Amino acid sequence: MIRAKPDVEALTPYRAPLEGRRSLLRLDFNESTMGPSSAVVDAIRNLPPDAYATYPEYAGLNEAFAATLGVAVKHVEAFNGVDAAIRAIFDAYGGRGDAFLTTVPTFGYYEPCAQQQGMVIDEVQYLDDLKYPLAAITRRLEARPRLFFICNPNNPTGTLMTSQAIVALARAAPETLVVVDELYVAFTGQSVVPAALELSNVVALQSLSKAAGLAAVRLGFAIGHPTIIERLRRVTGPYDINMFAVVAGKAALADPDHMRRYVAAVLAARTWTLGELERLGVRHSAEGGNYMLVWPPGDCEGVVQALRARGILVRSMARKPLIDGSFRLTIGTREHMQRFMTAFSAVIGREVHA
Ligand SMILES: Cc1ncc(COP(=O)(O)O)c(C=O)c1O
Repeated sequence: MIRAKPDVEALTPYRAPLEGRRSLLRLDFNESTMGPSSAVVDAIRNLPPDAYATYPEYAGLNEAFAATLGVAVKHVEAFNGVDAAIRAIFDAYGGRGDAFLTTVPTFGYYEPCAQQQGMVIDEVQYLDDLKYPLAAITRRLEARPRLFFICNPNNPTGTLMTSQAIVALARAAPETLVVVDELYVAFTGQSVVPAALELSNVVALQSLSKAAGLAAVRLGFAIGHPTIIERLRRVTGPYDINMFAVVAGKAALADPDHMRRYVAAVLAARTWTLGELERLGVRHSAEGGNYMLVWPPGDCEGVVQALRARGILVRSMARKPLIDGSFRLTIGTREHMQRFMTAFSAVIGREVHA
């Protein structure tokens, strides 16, 4: 066997258990339970054969996304999902021995990307009530880490920071690249864009995976100062985004009402679900995003498996600091949440009136 680089040999890869889910109600990965605009499906269906045979063309894609944000196109670049933007950030900015400041628990893909570059990881835990550890982070930033990620709202805790607080952190740390992962911005409306665009050390990440219902298509965007955007382009392959994503992304961006309707449905279903969990007396935590944490009574793993046996997937948070014993529940439409609540109340043996 030819060994890979030492950093790769030592790496714990990020693996999501994503196989065999299609026939089940998927409330485990914060995807849309409604799917994309029908305009997306039509646009893909109508593609002529030569669209498959030709390398993709990107004209108009960044422009369309920039227009939805109301920013100049020089601030925007598309990626093969936000995951690819995260990779590009570490490739471009993460050097061996450099410090990567982050929080825990948070989105699982940051850490392997940092490890792959041989970075030194500095993790600060969320507070006991899942609030942001602002005082500790402020102190750690004084050591001028190379990279600092804020997942806002944080996946999985839902912790939400104001854009003013994030911009203040970034202003206080001009030598640190501050990455604001805004994957769930559609559900919170809280963004550092456009406030942070004038700062040369901030980049935000947004995606069409969740609210627009395009997780399989893979399309995300980095939004920031043009100097950062240009460095990220340097480390990205010429055709890393495939043609289907370009076509689907343009069609989705041309139908903003579809996303608005879905977000409104999720927010209404969220209120309903929270009320039901209150009535059942089940501990839960929900701040930002189309998801919440639920601490079922008794054995969490057992509850997750029993839900699966009833055709409903949720994501166990077992062994994660602070939130061990909970599962993350994606919030879908009211109909889907009613299905969840009926199954959940049966599993935990309490009555519910869905
Ligand atoms: C916080 C966060 N960032 C990034 C991603 C990846 O997004 P994308 O599907 O655009 O690659 C996810 C996916 O679940 C996420 O939760």
